[in-house]
Amino acid sequence: MSGTPPIVHPINYHNGIMLAPMVRSGTLPSRLLALKYGADLVWGPEIVDRAIIGCERIVDEETGVISYEKSSRQIWSTHPAERPFLIYQIGSSSPSLAVEAALTVAGDVSGVDLNCGCPKPFSTHAGMGANLLTNPDLLCEILTSLRRALPAHIPVTAKIRLLPDQNDTLELIRRIVGTGVSALTVHCRTKEMRKTEPALVHQLREIVEFVERLGVGIPVIENGDCLSRQDAKRIRDMTGVCSVMLATAAEKNLSCFSSGPLLDAESVLAPTYLSLARYLKNPWGNSKHCSSQFTSPQGKNGKSKLKEFKQTLSQGKGYDAFPDADASRGEKILKEVEDVVKRRLVLVSERPATRNTTTTLQILPPGTPFMVPSEPLKEVQSAVSM
Ligand SMILES: Cc1cc2nc3c(=O)[nH]c(=O)nc-3n(C[C@H](O)[C@H](O)[C@H](O)COP(=O)(O)O)c2cc1C
Repeated sequence: MSGTPPIVHPINYHNGIMLAPMVRSGTLPSRLLALKYGADLVWGPEIVDRAIIGCERIVDEETGVISYEKSSRQIWSTHPAERPFLIYQIGSSSPSLAVEAALTVAGDVSGVDLNCGCPKPFSTHAGMGANLLTNPDLLCEILTSLRRALPAHIPVTAKIRLLPDQNDTLELIRRIVGTGVSALTVHCRTKEMRKTEPALVHQLREIVEFVERLGVGIPVIENGDCLSRQDAKRIRDMTGVCSVMLATAAEKNLSCFSSGPLLDAESVLAPTYLSLARYLKNPWGNSKHCSSQFTSPQGKNGKSKLKEFKQTLSQGKGYDAFPDADASRGEKILKEVEDVVKRRLVLVSERPATRNTTTTLQILPPGTPFMVPSEPLKEVQSAVSM
């Protein structure tokens, strides 16, 4: 609306409970449901720089889904509803490719994160992910290049793992903080640790105090072994972190972000998820994978119902296998997510900017090229509606 003052929203990494980046499991329907159930920010799955570069951006006029495709294959998808709280994660070992990848999606996301923690060979063999931890010059060059190339309203962050020696971790963090990142996520495991080993959460207090002493107001986000919103309090008290990020708990039950009890997987969560996924035309294989991870709180319907659901799922060839997966219900669920996001945006816009506000986010129409910041900004409502 021309003549209307720009609406500028802070993207706030403080006091949050975040959905972690998860390849396969952190796709669009999961991120939207995480927002519906109370996640403050949602990270997309790691997308390697070369994969997104050169993609065609296709908008589905019916659903509003934005699909980045190459050779008719979907590489990544998003929806305007999640944009105000969406962080895009890059896998990269090249400053120039990382910048090109970030610029490809910059019009559809609110933050960009560099994956410096993936220990999988497909990532580390190319010098990406956790291998960046032992190549701090390159890691920092990528972050500096991203910060320089992206517009000020898009914060740059990094997600790291612990190094075997705490002093080395502190030194690495000192360097990362110097690149101008707006937040830092620490997965409290080393590259060598298996995901079944308990996270070394107790090591985080020293890190949080160290970052505080650097005096730049950068929030540290804890990651590792947090089970729920209630559990996040335990971790905050133990470590002094302001925010906590959940992966496995969310993969199992997206309602872990809510302050209420966990939702029953087979009777509530899965039908909700599958209806939304069907409406959004999420590839069946991915929806099948995500819903096969769901678990129910103990003792609700007993294990047999969940087993029955998983059996149907494993034999299912498409959404038709589930009468409860109803696209028109999915459309309503999307509207609920949009309402949640709108309400939250209004709350954010009413909150005065504080020292805790690390950067500001201008709510632009989807796909707005970032090079034209003078373009009139739309009202919150239109920014999140389709
Ligand atoms: C299925 C799955 C996929 C993951 N993919 C990514 C990823 O794309 N990028 C990333 O930084 N970490 C990834 N991770 C790691 C998680 O973000 C998180 O750091 C780790 O699981 C520890 O958190 P948790 O204890 O809450 O599970 C993934 C984890 C899981 C379970």
